[in-house]
Amino acid sequence: MNPLKVALLGCGTVGGAVLRLVAEQAADLTARVGRPVEIAGVAVRRPDRHPEVPAHLLTTDALGLVTRDDVDLVVEVIGGIEPARSLILAAIEAGKSVVSANKALLAEDGVALHAAAAKAGVDLYYEASVAGAIPLLRPLRESLAGDQIRRVVGIVNGTTNYILSRMAETGAGFSEALAEATELGYAEADPTADVDGFDAAAKGAILASLAFHSAVTAADVHREGIASVTATDVARAAEIGCTVKLLAICERVPGEEGESVAVRVHPAMIPTSHPLAAVGGAFNAVFVEAEAAGQLMFYGQGAGGEPTASAVLGDLVAVARNRVAGAAGAGPSAYADLPARPIAET
Ligand code: HSE
Repeated sequence: MNPLKVALLGCGTVGGAVLRLVAEQAADLTARVGRPVEIAGVAVRRPDRHPEVPAHLLTTDALGLVTRDDVDLVVEVIGGIEPARSLILAAIEAGKSVVSANKALLAEDGVALHAAAAKAGVDLYYEASVAGAIPLLRPLRESLAGDQIRRVVGIVNGTTNYILSRMAETGAGFSEALAEATELGYAEADPTADVDGFDAAAKGAILASLAFHSAVTAADVHREGIASVTATDVARAAEIGCTVKLLAICERVPGEEGESVAVRVHPAMIPTSHPLAAVGGAFNAVFVEAEAAGQLMFYGQGAGGEPTASAVLGDLVAVARNRVAGAAGAGPSAYADLPARPIAET
């Protein structure tokens, strides 16, 4: 059986875990896909920093790798806008299905990437871009495709959830809790993207785009971070039976000129009886309200090498199966159902 060949772009924490899991689960992946899945190459900037990767797989020529004739699928775990965007577009144009974990890129250019994939008849999956291990995007995109989603409310940033949880548990102020999160490795050395809500805004844009079949970018999201939340705010919230969480709230909003989509990220007081209030530490959870399905809750690890690699591998199996079945790109594009709706004033 000819193997399906995968180009891996990036080999950091997530890429390394993907590489290891593909090797460890080779027999299971073959059984689940119907053909062996083999890594064709790993594109990195500094090959000398990856002694764990077989040397013959390493390359600095990412473009050459993704356009190679023998490559069937591309996994992008580089992150950021460029060169990820150009490489993904080149891969799609060369007829390769793509799995990406790139929230910043999907939140900025999801429409163009989907259009390119639809035109080329290939798949574009990106489950790992929002809430790490939690199966969430494919449920929104596929399982709930016959329903009308009214609202998606999520704790989609683990760093800020850890900080707010510690403030509630210990009475610490924001700076003290952030210092603890940094020391324990939850917060990045530069915590701006998490603390100021940029990370959650990108994830909110992706969730809203899929939930409402609309074209929402991170720039459309009203954004407020947690840096101004004080110990007093958290204590007062507790006194009235509430807890403070950084939420990404995606809703359909009725208006005089028809319905629109509003997405906002901000700290919010939620009653301790709400399922999201119990989400502690660096965990993520997303609460979905749909017309027919009712209320659904998705919960789990939103970050980390192995949990995120689990989502990448799930997508890899899905696109590989489609490739084996000759069905890649046959499904509806995520944004094809409805034209972009105007973004509501927030
Ligand atoms: N910085 C992100 C978080 C990582 O804290 O949730 C996962 O996207």
